[in-house]
Amino acid sequence: MDAFSIQGGNRLSGTITVDGSKNASLPLLAATLLTDEAVVFEGVPNLSDIANMVRLLEELGCTATRVNSQIQIQSLDSSISHARYDIVRTMRASVCVLGPLLAKRGEVRVSMPGGCSFGDRPIDLHLRGLEALGAKIHLEGGDIVARCERLHGATIFLGGPFGSTVLGTANVMSAATLAKGKTIIESAACEPEITDLAKLLNAMGAKISGAGTPRITIEGVDQLGGASHTVMPDRIVAGTWAIAAAMTNGNVTIEKFPLDHLLAVTDVLSTVGVHVHQTDTSQDPVSCTVQVTSDRNLKPVMFTTQPFPGFPTDLQAQMMALLCLSKGNSIITEKIYPERFMHVPELSRMGARLVKQGSTVVVQGVDRLIGAPVMASDLRASASLIIAGLAAEGETIVSRVYHLDRGYEQMEKTLTALGAKIKRIDDTQVVDGLPIVDTVPAKKLVQPNS
Ligand code: EPU
Repeated sequence: MDAFSIQGGNRLSGTITVDGSKNASLPLLAATLLTDEAVVFEGVPNLSDIANMVRLLEELGCTATRVNSQIQIQSLDSSISHARYDIVRTMRASVCVLGPLLAKRGEVRVSMPGGCSFGDRPIDLHLRGLEALGAKIHLEGGDIVARCERLHGATIFLGGPFGSTVLGTANVMSAATLAKGKTIIESAACEPEITDLAKLLNAMGAKISGAGTPRITIEGVDQLGGASHTVMPDRIVAGTWAIAAAMTNGNVTIEKFPLDHLLAVTDVLSTVGVHVHQTDTSQDPVSCTVQVTSDRNLKPVMFTTQPFPGFPTDLQAQMMALLCLSKGNSIITEKIYPERFMHVPELSRMGARLVKQGSTVVVQGVDRLIGAPVMASDLRASASLIIAGLAAEGETIVSRVYHLDRGYEQMEKTLTALGAKIKRIDDTQVVDGLPIVDTVPAKKLVQPNS
């Protein structure tokens, strides 16, 4: 297994460009199951989660061709509609195929995703939404089995105990495009990834309005066709780079920065004393160039994660790493996944002072973090440990970085280009957190279908 060795203390500086969004790409790729025609994507990031989704689509009878950042998918054989446990357990987002397969093929079997490292992640709202459209659903051998003649439009309330559901909205909205009649999704997720999905579906011939608001209306059509689509920039990756720049008191220019999608984050950063300002004249507020700089004295702040446009849960861990070095006490409350704090004990190993009470963590700022061997337990927790390692004194070894490779394309290369001292090493060569050999070459990420 790969690990990262980081020598902290270098200021990040230079220019980087944000890749296409992973979380937008996954439901976009699944939407190709709604048509027999080819759909072409530009800007799909080269990540292990994407490779897994493409593998799943191939198992479901699609052909996939990838040339650099462009992927073409075409659904050719509709005889297999079973998303097996082998794939679903590697990536929960496999559940994105549920709605498209049901609507197009009238039948689907998807292995029920289990819990994940940050708690229960039920899919009851996905199922309730599809049942409202007329699906008959039952559980069989750990699989969700759903069938329908033709789905019919309905008015569906999709809110749950933690607010709206992003992939649930994606599933129900995608399925409703081929339903007979009109569907209204109330309490729909407003995340930009949903707006991006609606943009693709409309380009394929769907009739969706209101995406990006809590009420989405879909007029069903008989069939969808092929289309071309450019994936939106990854707001979580962009936010991670901005926080990493701030953590090292750096000066980083970030291109294709989705400023409009990150206003809750830039607001918190500005309170902390981090400046994010647009440096180009782009009229596109979701793909502009910004410069990130910070004051040496970081101020504490209080924030709560919320559905969009609130502060994203996917940047909570990274922001916590930054606040470890602020002057005073910060308070972070997690309202989407109350147990998403696996980074807390690991940051504490690096000298952070963190007090967790339920879904809130009090961060008592310290003068310095100290490098240590730490273990990544999920994608965003990994990112926070790497950010902490960039500013810590001495060496930090972050093990199990396969979590990171799910959502950041060769992060070590980008950070090295910005002046960080970070190397990918072989975890099997690490004894008690101390590497016993030098580096091995960076492992190539899986190239889907190439
Ligand atoms: N929920 C339910 N019932 C459901 C679905 C969700 O109660 O049927 C609850 C969840 O347990 C959670 C809340 O609703 O408390 C929101 O979950 P949501 O369904 O919105 O999450 P998701 O769609 O499964 C996506 C992202 C996550 C991100 C969340 C929240 C993808 C592939 N995943 O998950 O991204 O944290 O939205 O914004 O888009 C990540 O990238 O690291 C990641 C985990």
